[in-house]
Amino acid sequence: MLILAIESSCDETSVAIVRDGAVLSNAVSSQIKLHEEYGGVVPELATREHLKNFMPTAQEALRIAGVETGELDAIAATRGPGLPPALMIGLKAAQAMAFALGRPFMGINHHEAHLYSPWIVGDPLHADFENFEPNISLIVSGGHTMLVHVERELKHHILGGTIDDAAGECFDKTAKLLGLPYPGGPQMDRLAQEGDPGAYEFPRPLLNQQNDDFSFSGLKTSVRYFLEKNPDLMEDRKTVCDICASVQAAIVDVLVKKTLRAAKRLGVRCITASGGVTCNSALRRELKVACEKRGLKLRLCDPQLSTDNAAMIGVLAERKLIAGEPATDLDVEIKAGWALE
Ligand code: KG4
Ligand code: ZN
Repeated sequence: MLILAIESSCDETSVAIVRDGAVLSNAVSSQIKLHEEYGGVVPELATREHLKNFMPTAQEALRIAGVETGELDAIAATRGPGLPPALMIGLKAAQAMAFALGRPFMGINHHEAHLYSPWIVGDPLHADFENFEPNISLIVSGGHTMLVHVERELKHHILGGTIDDAAGECFDKTAKLLGLPYPGGPQMDRLAQEGDPGAYEFPRPLLNQQNDDFSFSGLKTSVRYFLEKNPDLMEDRKTVCDICASVQAAIVDVLVKKTLRAAKRLGVRCITASGGVTCNSALRRELKVACEKRGLKLRLCDPQLSTDNAAMIGVLAERKLIAGEPATDLDVEIKAGWALE
């Protein structure tokens, strides 16, 4: 099966070509630089960029894959959740292509695609569902933090999620307090490598509660109060690195401990993680250490598929078509607030 997939839910325009589980191409046009000066994604600007970048990105994906549109068997796109005007561009382009080619269209939930993205591995990238096993999956991005029990392929249920800020949002907002450029997560990660994670003690919200929920807004507030009380600390680079390392340690500690606790409680022997924050070096390291200690398998999403991409949309669409799920009507609208079910 040959699928063209589109992702445009936030600030990445991406088009991928997937054939029988193999990712033939995954073209991504990122807008990070554009939004940097505003300190966050500006929906109006994102929409214009998607419009501008869609055709070149689609052409690049087809060229790299060596595929003509007439060969395609199906078209897929992210239907939600995401920024409404951004989503509309990818969804409507996909529906128009499916209509013109007379092929089925699949509207995909962005989080469900993240959920299965750790099963896309290797170089060249390909789906590895032959080795699939039940898992506890941590989805950590700028917009979401979720723990999901994946009982079998395409069968999952949400265990818990953040009740306020997402983990990536906490990284970005605390980085902003420290005067670091947007997006702050990768900057904090980089500076934290030169810092001492034990230098300052920041709260580990909800860590001692026996549930699968997260809360990060209190942590961000405590960093703000701390910096207001100690403004001089920001003058010294070493201290800024120590603060980054200490905040990162608090976020990672909560994510890792709560994920492993859920796995233990449910008797699940495999952990997976996906979403932009999975690029964080401390999170990757601590999950590895914790899983090795307990003899659990760990599947970390490939860093190039951790941030938003169309390859994960195409791979999931293919699995759904193979499983016999019906195609999506060509006239459906976006679902901007589509929660993972
Ligand atoms: O999944 P993603 O590309 O977009 C959505 O939010 O859906 O995730 C972006 C988030 C941002 O908050 C960014 O700061 C964070 O992932 N991030 C990181 C790192 N790389 C990206 N956070 C911490 N450390 C990193 N290395
Ligand atoms: Zn995402």
